[in-house]
Amino acid sequence: MKYRSYKGLDISEVGMGCYALSGSYGSVDLENYKSVLNHALDLGINLFDTAATYGDEAEKILGEVITPVREDVIISTKIGMGDDGRPSLAYDDVKSACKNSLSRLNIDYIDIYLVHFDDPNTEVKETVHALEDLRNEGKIKHYGVSHLPAERVKEYLEEGDVSFCLMELSAVSRQSRKELLPLCQKYGTKAIAFSVTGRGILSGKIDEDSEFAPGDIRKMDPLFKKERFKSALRITEKLKEIGKKYDKTSTQVAINWVLSQDGVISALTGPSSKEHLEENVDSSSWNLKEADLREIESFLDKEEEMLEEKEPEIINEILKDGLPEKIEQAFNDLVYVMEVSIDRGMVEEKKIVPIFQELIGKKKGDEDLTYDQLEDIRRKVKGLIV
Ligand SMILES: NC(=O)c1ccc[n+]([C@@H]2O[C@H](COP(=O)([O-])OP(=O)(O)OC[C@H]3O[C@@H](n4cnc5c(N)ncnc54)[C@H](OP(=O)(O)O)[C@@H]3O)[C@@H](O)[C@H]2O)c1
Repeated sequence: MKYRSYKGLDISEVGMGCYALSGSYGSVDLENYKSVLNHALDLGINLFDTAATYGDEAEKILGEVITPVREDVIISTKIGMGDDGRPSLAYDDVKSACKNSLSRLNIDYIDIYLVHFDDPNTEVKETVHALEDLRNEGKIKHYGVSHLPAERVKEYLEEGDVSFCLMELSAVSRQSRKELLPLCQKYGTKAIAFSVTGRGILSGKIDEDSEFAPGDIRKMDPLFKKERFKSALRITEKLKEIGKKYDKTSTQVAINWVLSQDGVISALTGPSSKEHLEENVDSSSWNLKEADLREIESFLDKEEEMLEEKEPEIINEILKDGLPEKIEQAFNDLVYVMEVSIDRGMVEEKKIVPIFQELIGKKKGDEDLTYDQLEDIRRKVKGLIV
């Protein structure tokens, strides 16, 4: 494993993300998962990423595993939701969220504390004030942002001493290279990339016949839908072909490609098996040659051109008439429209995020979504798309 130095930290090129504990990639056996985390330590991983919202036990389990090696690891965690289930970034809520995370992790300080989701009701200045106070009190070492619209990230970069920005980045999810990554580079803030295996798709183990369990995020992720999915399968084949030259798998090429991107300090993967973990760790300590990077880039450019042309057509098609009658498909179509329209610059992110949160909030609620509710959201979205 190679390490990259930044702000006094030596960070493993491949980091371990604990999102799997949320159940978003299917169910996880806790005892086995703990042994995967221990194996990550053995393999030289020192960056461990979790969040208050990755399931009730996520921070506690990570805390148990790292207790004997606390000073040798870098713990990154994220601010949870307020009492009403919505993100709250008000001064007191940030302070109490940190206190709760420290207690669950059973540690005295958090190495990297991240703003997880936006709270449009709180000024960035107030949240930064809370984060600075936490740092002065020694409860956190560094802070950063994750999952925020680029324009909001810019506010944080201007207002505070933002050390890290977590962003989705993989050969099949390249959006952050357009705005977020260059923005962070301008301010000297390093990127921690996530979902670098494209949530498993770049392993080549997922195809049109793959079924995901209920609650698996890939059931609604646009990456697994329509042209984006077909494109991802073609990209996977290309990475497989390149990997043969190095005796590496498509996953390893995918992670190495992320590590070759300027401004990236570490690539987080979230495997729940030792076998996948070992494969991912072996993506560090070697480099794709310039010629192969160029070949990948030109392949990705062609895929991007095709998606740029086709995706707006797909969005307009979905929004034109009513949604499909099957509730799950109607829901997935709305998620697709919202996420893809942001990527394609067809909508202002800050305007659509509250509608997205409304949709996801309704889905998580106790009552089943109704067709009328979904249609109502479709009409709101249609009014925003240009
Ligand atoms: N995803 C998000 O929305 C998000 C957002 C913010 C931060 N993060 C952080 O970033 C971390 C990494 O993101 P992620 O978990 O989405 O990463 P990921 O590794 O791209 O996705 C995890 C999925 O990919 C599969 N996978 C990983 N390595 C594999 C391999 N070598 N071969 C086959 N399948 C493989 C895993 O399968 P198995 O379980 O079978 O190993 C799992 O289903 C998260 O855990 C979290 O800490 C994630």
